[in-house]
Amino acid sequence: GPASNKEAFKKSEKTVHRLSLIDVQGVPLKSQIVNNLDSILQFCPDPSDLLIATYPKAGTTWVQEIVDLLLNNGDAEACKRAPIINRNPFLDSCLSPPLPSGLDLLKEMKPPRVIKTHMPIQLVPKGFWDNKCKVIYVARNAKDNVVSYFYFDQMNLTHPEPGSWDGYIQKFMKGQLSWGSWYDHVKGYWRERKERNILYLLYEDMKENPGREIKKIRRYLGVSVSDDVIERIVQLTSFKTMKDNPMANYSFIPKLVFDQSVSLFMRKGEVGDWVNHFTPAQSQMFDEDYAKQMKDVDIQFRFRI
Ligand code: A3P
Repeated sequence: GPASNKEAFKKSEKTVHRLSLIDVQGVPLKSQIVNNLDSILQFCPDPSDLLIATYPKAGTTWVQEIVDLLLNNGDAEACKRAPIINRNPFLDSCLSPPLPSGLDLLKEMKPPRVIKTHMPIQLVPKGFWDNKCKVIYVARNAKDNVVSYFYFDQMNLTHPEPGSWDGYIQKFMKGQLSWGSWYDHVKGYWRERKERNILYLLYEDMKENPGREIKKIRRYLGVSVSDDVIERIVQLTSFKTMKDNPMANYSFIPKLVFDQSVSLFMRKGEVGDWVNHFTPAQSQMFDEDYAKQMKDVDIQFRFRI
């Protein structure tokens, strides 16, 4: 529980912070999450709570900021009331105490709340489905996603060491990174999207036309926000603006946990950066495996826009 977490942090403060992964039903999760798994799975949301679900590095923070602005009618100051990790509790928190755990924050906050998760759909607490909560899922093309995750794992000192880029691609393809297989993750939510009324967004669509995608979210949330305010939200959630926003750019996390001198959280924010990282041979090997892993699903990801 939380007490043992605190102990773990005290110890790790003097040594290393990188946690090991433990297999849960075929999904590697950080030991800290596994220690709290029962409480996470038993968490019962209010029907008014909203869940934002993603595979790590798919654009979670971007959508969180958009949703917060939509719920505050584009009021930028209101959305600077607290760091994003405090505004939107992270259910399966990957942060180290004394940073707030998602479950602790949820105890203090009254619904309606916006909750973040990286859990694959089969590990989302049942209460979200029983209570018919709204769920927004964001997916990003696999190649940019793995590049972004590679940089993140270098700077997030609670994640296992990423190792070499070549080895990292292999781990990604085998589903051995924290929160498991990207392929299973994006497919799992995709298959359930209609039945469970999940709004399924793509990072590439958001980059191509953020106003159009923000209007989809407006409609899904059922909020009345004018088109002028939508335009303002597009500006307020541009990569550049969010990079300079101390309540969104994760500069509030101690360097002991996120070492942004290694790589910034708001790193690049582009579609197609993978071409700067994959060799032609790696790209071909990845594509061949991708075709196999994605043959049973009809999602079309764009790797360039
Ligand atoms: P890069 O590493 O490719 O730059 P998450 O929030 O899920 O952890 O995802 C982080 C990724 O989303 C990072 O990708 C980050 O730069 C990008 N990102 C964050 N805010 C963004 C924005 N407003 N516009 C575009 N990309 C954004």
